[in-house]
Amino acid sequence: MRESLHRSRAALLSTLLFVAACHPAASPAPAHPPAPALEPRDATRVAEAAALAAFPGGWRFPVGVKPTESEHAMVVSNSKLASDAGIEILKAGGNAVDAAVATGFALAVTYPSAGNIGGGGFMNIRMADGRSMTLDYREMAPGASSRDMYVDASGKLTNKSTVGYLASGVPGSVAGMNEALKKYGSMTLAQVMAPAIRYAEKGFMVDSVFSRGIEGARRAITPFEGKAVFFPGGEAVKTGSLLVQPDLARTLKLIAANGPKAFYEGAIADSLVAEEQRGGGIITKDDLRRYKPEWRTPIKSTYRGYTLLAMPPSSSGGITMTEAMNILENFAPLPPAGSVGYAHLLAESYRRAFMDRNSKLGDPAFVKNPLNELTSKAYAKTLAAQIDLHHASKTPAFDTRAEGTQTTHYSVVDNFGNAVATTTTLNGGFGSGVWVRGGGFFMNNEMDDFAAQPGTPNMFGLVQGEANAIRPGKRMLSAMDPTIVLDPQGKLLMVTGAAGGPTIITATMEVILNVIEHHMTLADAMRAPRLHHQALPDALRFEPNGMSAAVVDSLKAMGHTVTSQNGLANVNSILRVPGGWHGVYEPRSVGGAVGY
Ligand code: DON
Repeated sequence: MRESLHRSRAALLSTLLFVAACHPAASPAPAHPPAPALEPRDATRVAEAAALAAFPGGWRFPVGVKPTESEHAMVVSNSKLASDAGIEILKAGGNAVDAAVATGFALAVTYPSAGNIGGGGFMNIRMADGRSMTLDYREMAPGASSRDMYVDASGKLTNKSTVGYLASGVPGSVAGMNEALKKYGSMTLAQVMAPAIRYAEKGFMVDSVFSRGIEGARRAITPFEGKAVFFPGGEAVKTGSLLVQPDLARTLKLIAANGPKAFYEGAIADSLVAEEQRGGGIITKDDLRRYKPEWRTPIKSTYRGYTLLAMPPSSSGGITMTEAMNILENFAPLPPAGSVGYAHLLAESYRRAFMDRNSKLGDPAFVKNPLNELTSKAYAKTLAAQIDLHHASKTPAFDTRAEGTQTTHYSVVDNFGNAVATTTTLNGGFGSGVWVRGGGFFMNNEMDDFAAQPGTPNMFGLVQGEANAIRPGKRMLSAMDPTIVLDPQGKLLMVTGAAGGPTIITATMEVILNVIEHHMTLADAMRAPRLHHQALPDALRFEPNGMSAAVVDSLKAMGHTVTSQNGLANVNSILRVPGGWHGVYEPRSVGGAVGY
C-alpha cells in the first residue's frame, strides 16, 4: 500500500516535471539558483519519489537502502580492508591525505586487480581552509616508445598495447602518493604504509569474490610470474585461505624506509628493469629516474550554484564532465531521472562532450587543450541549442586530423574538513599481466589509453585522434575523474569518482546529478540505473532492466541506437548530511564504507 502510494506520487511528480521540462529548449534557460532547503520530512519524500521514478520495475536494487553513517570521518573504497587502513590512520590523528595514501597502498595489496604501485592515478584534494589542488601521477610513455609501435607491417593494430611487456607506461603511483603526503599529509610514509605492509606480510583472508576474480583473470595472470602467488599449485587462491605476498611486503618496506627513490632508482627499479629486459619491454632506469608527478589546478565549474572541482588533463574527466553538465544546465528543470526526456538529454550532452574529448584533448605538455572554450557556459549554450528534443542526432565519422578492465576510486573525508578523491589504475584488470619478479607487483597496460592508431578504437571502444597519439615522455589521455562538490555556500558536499574507462565520466556525473538535481539520498543515487554515451560507437548504453521497455522503445523511435551493458562503472562516494557523513561503496561491486 505504502509502496503503491509512493509509486503513484512518484508517477505524478515525474509527469509534472517531464511536462515542464519538455518545453525549455527554444531558449535555453539560464542557470537557476539552487532550490531553497526543504524541511527534512519533505526532503525525504522528494528523495523517495525521485528514486522510485528512476528505478523501473525489475531493477536489481531496491529504493531506500541505508548508507554507512558516521559523525566525524569516512573512507569509501573497493576494499573493506583498504578503507579500514584509512580509518586506522585517521584515528591515529592523520588527516585525509594521510588516510588516502594509506588506503592507496593498502589497495595495492588487497585489491591487486586495480590497486597498484605499478600503475598511476589522479588525486583531487581540498583542504579545510579552502585550498584546492589536483595531483597528476599518470604513467608516461617510455623514452623508446613511438607513435606506431603497436601497428604491424601490414598496418594492423596489434594487441601489444594491452597485453605483455610493451603495454606499460612508466608507473607514477609511488611518486604520486609520496608527493601528496609530503605536501599535504602530516605523517611519514612508514606510518601510513604500515597497514599495507601488515596485509602483505601477515596476509589477509581471501573471500569468494576475490577468489572468483583471480580465476576470471587466469588468462591475464598465468603467462607471467604472478601465477606462483595467485595460482599456487595451478589453482586460483582459495576462499578462506590466507594470501601472503612476501615480495610485495619487502618492496613496500623498502619504499617506507627509503622513499620513492627505492622504487625509481634503487632495488625495485633494478627488479622492474630486469623484468622488462627479460620480456622485451622498453622501460629503462632513465625512464624511471625521470618520472615526475605534476600538481595541477583543478577544473572549477558551477552547476546551478554548486561548485565542481574536477580533474584537468592529462585526464579528460573534468573537462568532459564540465562540458556535459554545462550543456544540461540549459534545461531547467531537467526531466526526472528514469524518463525518456532525461535519457535523451544525457545522451545528447554526452555525445557532444565526448566528441570534443576524443578529438581535442591530450597531455598538456604536448597538446594545447582548448580548456577555456570547452568549459565555457557560452560554448555549452550553443551546443544545447543544437539539441532537438524529439530526435537523436548522429555522431559524425571521426576526423583524426582534427586534432574489463579495472580501475579503482576511493573517497576520504576527515574530522578536520579535508577531503580527498583519488582514482588509480593499472588500466585493464591486473594491467598487462606482467608481474615484476622480486618486486611482487603487476605492471599497467596504460599504453592502450593512447590512440595507438588514431581513428581505431581502443579497448574501451574510444576512437581518438592525434592529440592523444604516442610520443616518448607523454601521458596518455585518461577519463579518470575524482571529483569534489561544494554546496552553494561553498561548503564541502560530496567526494566521488569512479572506475570504468569512459563510463567513469558519465557515472560520476549521474551520481552527482542524482543528488543535487534529483534530490536522491546517496544510497539511492548510487543504486539508480546508469546510462552511457561516448559519441562513438554511436549508441546509448543502459544497464539491463535499468530502463523500462516503454522508455527504450521511445528512445529508439527518436532515433537512438540503444544497447544494454552490465554494470556501468564502479563509483565510491561520500555525502555530507546533517550531523555527519553518508558513505556508499559501489553496490554493483565490492568494497567498504567505513566511518567513525
Ligand atoms: O585512465 C583511464 O581512463 C583508463 N585507464 C581507466 C580504466 C578503467 O577505468 C578500467 N576500469 N574499470
